[in-house]
Amino acid sequence: MKALLLEDYKKLTVVDFPEPETGPDDVLVRVASCGICGSDVHGFDGGSGRRIPPVIMGHEASGTVAQTGSNVKRFKQGDRVTFDSMINCGRCPYCRKGQPNLCADRRVLGVSCGDYRRHGAFAEYVAVPQHIVYAVPDTVSFDQAAMVEPVSVALHAANLAGGGLGDSCVVVGAGMIGLLTVQAMRIKGCGQIIAVDLDDSRLALAKTSGADVTINAKNTSVPERVRELTGGEGADIVMEAVGTNATVLASIDSVRKGGTVVLIGNVTKDTALPLQSVVTREVRLQGSCASANDYTACLDLIGRGAFRVEPMISATAPLERGAEMFDRLYAHEAGLTKVILKP
Ligand SMILES: NC(=O)c1ccc[n+]([C@@H]2O[C@H](COP(=O)([O-])OP(=O)(O)OC[C@H]3O[C@@H](n4cnc5c(N)ncnc54)[C@H](O)[C@@H]3O)[C@@H](O)[C@H]2O)c1
Ligand SMILES: [Zn+2]
Ligand SMILES: [Zn+2]
Repeated sequence: MKALLLEDYKKLTVVDFPEPETGPDDVLVRVASCGICGSDVHGFDGGSGRRIPPVIMGHEASGTVAQTGSNVKRFKQGDRVTFDSMINCGRCPYCRKGQPNLCADRRVLGVSCGDYRRHGAFAEYVAVPQHIVYAVPDTVSFDQAAMVEPVSVALHAANLAGGGLGDSCVVVGAGMIGLLTVQAMRIKGCGQIIAVDLDDSRLALAKTSGADVTINAKNTSVPERVRELTGGEGADIVMEAVGTNATVLASIDSVRKGGTVVLIGNVTKDTALPLQSVVTREVRLQGSCASANDYTACLDLIGRGAFRVEPMISATAPLERGAEMFDRLYAHEAGLTKVILKP
């Protein structure tokens, strides 16, 4: 089969690769669309240590069932499907509690690290275990379905935020995750939504995603402006979707007493904690990682038009143009958001 192989750091080549084997519990998917994730771009230069060559990357995909293993009863050839980016073990205490995102032995598709190598979906075919496969409704296109993973990250974080209808919310960072989080908080029934970024084109997208007000953190103090906009108190909820020291501190400083900060961004390993401010103001800090059993709800919400993912897709391209697209994303080309490759 045709596959986009990371042969060496920053060296992507379309190669002829052996088709994956379909085990008894596996579904072989003929890939139609596969999105390039920020983590693929951060990994392909060796930066994250999670894309050790050779590896076929890609974990945000959709397609049709080409073949099923002997134990697979829920899917048949020709079904339109998508699948979770993470393969959970299904047996550990977390999987059994319905928290597969916290699985002790989870493996991410298209990742190669010290512990394992699992080829992903920048290829004509990928084999995945049936328990992570989801049917794609007729109302959802393959490209839309390839967006379900980042949508599920936002939906999961929005659910962990708690709160109620009309709550004010700040979303720090208007990258793919931040923009989808703005949409999720709008769907959830927030009142005023304030989006923060350094890039005005991202802030414009935040507005079309449902933000009422935007703040460019380059030239404005975020906590001060948030207090001005929220009667002097700070926001009920802050969603942090950058993951740097400065943005984590600004997030904690922008939330009201007794409010909640959901931490989604994780590019930095450690950040400072303003302990007294968190303790004396009873700020709740809530981490959020990937998603847990949220794909069906996300596909439904995409199909209903509640999540609008098309404005987030800036290009689709054949696998042969994969290397070029990675280079453009790596160079932070202005205006380039999600790119979907079509094997
Ligand atoms: N917890 C999870 O499950 C999960 C899942 C996916 C991604 N992430 C993390 O979420 C974060 C965002 O991911 P993404 O794909 O949207 O990344 P992205 O690079 O597309 O977006 C980051 C955005 O933050 C903005 N930004 C940078 N510095 C800023 C600052 N000081 N103030 C305001 N805005 C600033 C950038 O302009 C950009 O628009 C990353 O840390 C990523 O690792 C977490
Ligand atoms: Zn991803
Ligand atoms: Zn498990």
